[in-house]
Amino acid sequence: MKIPSISMTGRDLLAISDLTTDGLRSILEGAAILKVAHKQNIDHSVLKNKSLAMIFEKPSLRTRTTFEVGMLQLGGHSIDLAQEHLQLGVRESISDIGRNLARWVDIVMARVFEHNTLEKLASSSSIPVINGLSDRSHPCQILADLFTIMETYGDFRDITVAYVGDGYNVANSLIAGCSMLGIPIRLSCPKGYEPSRSVIEHSLKAYPQANIEIMRDPFEAVTGANVVYTDSWISMGLEKDAKSRIKAFTKYQVNKELMSRAENNAIFMHCLPAHRGQEVTDEVIDGPNSAVFEQAENRLHVQKSLLVHTINGADTFKHIAETLR
Ligand code: CP
Ligand code: NVA
Repeated sequence: MKIPSISMTGRDLLAISDLTTDGLRSILEGAAILKVAHKQNIDHSVLKNKSLAMIFEKPSLRTRTTFEVGMLQLGGHSIDLAQEHLQLGVRESISDIGRNLARWVDIVMARVFEHNTLEKLASSSSIPVINGLSDRSHPCQILADLFTIMETYGDFRDITVAYVGDGYNVANSLIAGCSMLGIPIRLSCPKGYEPSRSVIEHSLKAYPQANIEIMRDPFEAVTGANVVYTDSWISMGLEKDAKSRIKAFTKYQVNKELMSRAENNAIFMHCLPAHRGQEVTDEVIDGPNSAVFEQAENRLHVQKSLLVHTINGADTFKHIAETLR
């Protein structure tokens, strides 16, 4: 088992591009250690007396539960600052909230509508801010997904990822994560729903190993892929466009026929929540090659690793690894 070596103490994670490639690998290595420690019921309460504040402008199951349970398992504490009480930017300015929180807690995780809100929070606060989903990116999700791919295939060599559907927050972070690790990624999105130009341009510039292809035909994108990934057609906050989106995305459903073009035993991935019958059929999401609940579980292990890297630093993992059987 590799021991994480890159400390990123005190750093924000607003996008995958905030990490170095070594930092990303170190988080995945830490997650592997924490997952074993958790399964073996070995004490790893390394964040005693540390507190996480959680801000949610939108609903959540996975992000909220995994951050709260994660802090609990690490011996720390979390507080959910429910939006009806916090009223981010309404009752009090975002920067005043950031400055207050820095006096009480060690780290903040926020799920926001506009990415800019995270940037304001991070720039006003001396403590690290983690993006729990914005309109631009979902880095925690992609850390868990890369970890799931690593667990499934052993490493990232000879893996091709196909993403079919909306080129939104999850797709943007997937592009950045795959590019950083040299995983070729093909994305098939309807016209007008392509991923962020700036994320693609940044990834191509920052990571020489990046291999990103954007195509219209989902069958072309999926052919020979080892991973087929999709996300909701109607993300949170975009509900008013539901009708036109369903029309635009109809040909982009991940179903058995589409999966049959992928490599034998290709895995199906979805960040969840899924809208069965829209972006994915029951037989695919409930099929033997679906990795969706592994992804969901891995949110816990990967975010715990992220919290330890950010609050304590990577040295902590040496001590945890020594206690594993
Ligand atoms: N995938 C994900 O972030 O799930 P939640 O919206 O339930 O947090
Ligand atoms: N794209 C989805 C992801 C949910 C985790 C959304 O923004 O609602």
